[in-house]
Amino acid sequence: MISSTPPFNDGPTGKTEVNKEPPFQTIRVQIEKAGYQIMGQFKPHIWCANHKAYGNVVIKLASTRLQKLQLKQEAEFLTRHQSNHWVPILEYEHYSGVDWAVLPQIDGINLGYFSRKHKLSNKLIRSIERGLLSLHQYGYIHGDINPSNIMVSAEDRAMLIDFGGTMKLNAPYPKYVAGNPKYSRFTHVIADDQYPTIERDWFSLAVTLASCTGSHPFGGNEIDTVIKKGMQPQMTNIPSRYQMILLSGIKART
Ligand SMILES: Nc1ncnc2c1ncn2[C@@H]1O[C@H](COP(=O)(O)OP(=O)(O)O)[C@@H](O)[C@H]1O
Ligand SMILES: [Mg+2]
Repeated sequence: MISSTPPFNDGPTGKTEVNKEPPFQTIRVQIEKAGYQIMGQFKPHIWCANHKAYGNVVIKLASTRLQKLQLKQEAEFLTRHQSNHWVPILEYEHYSGVDWAVLPQIDGINLGYFSRKHKLSNKLIRSIERGLLSLHQYGYIHGDINPSNIMVSAEDRAMLIDFGGTMKLNAPYPKYVAGNPKYSRFTHVIADDQYPTIERDWFSLAVTLASCTGSHPFGGNEIDTVIKKGMQPQMTNIPSRYQMILLSGIKART
């Protein structure tokens, strides 16, 4: 069973006050006018709300150029590609220099929080894999697989979130590559590979699963540093195919 107390489904770090800093305070009024009752926040730029027609939703706000770029990318991807492994986008709006996207709220907790109290079952791992496969079949990689971008709902069902870093397979790397450096390689992969490959996501998933079943396999170091220093992973009890993926992912390509 998953103990979730929406809307603060991120556990103890959930705050009861939404960010009151400008420009978000102006936006709050605007969002309320659009029929949303703000209930709280997961992060300063990720609010949860209720809407009469949509029910519980998550509102992602973007105020900087980079945030907007990522949010637009996420919205565009979600508009074009639907699957039961992720939620569709409900609305995309902008007002007074802030963009926001509305998504259905997934009833669950992210894998990072989930793994603090629960073991990762094979069923859950398979569910995450099916989500990634579905995404890859659309010709994209997620680009930012890490414990906070996978949601776990009842009966060990996984949903992927945060599509701001998706990249097209067989297309050159975009100028800006998103991702968490502790879960994905950057300089190395960009210098050596012309195109993003699905191995990038599988490697990030291997680091994610290892982190969620014990500790970060490279002691919390960034993957680029790991490769540079030739560090070896601390193997946890992840399935052996993921141990292989971890090892091959840090091989320097010459
Ligand atoms: N659709 C959703 N349903 C439920 N919780 C969500 C949803 N989207 C995001 N969250 C929560 O907010 C956190 C951050 O969301 P994310 O989209 O990854 O934002 P960021 O771009 O800041 O990484 C997630 O780890 C999750 O706890
Ligand atoms: Mg995220």
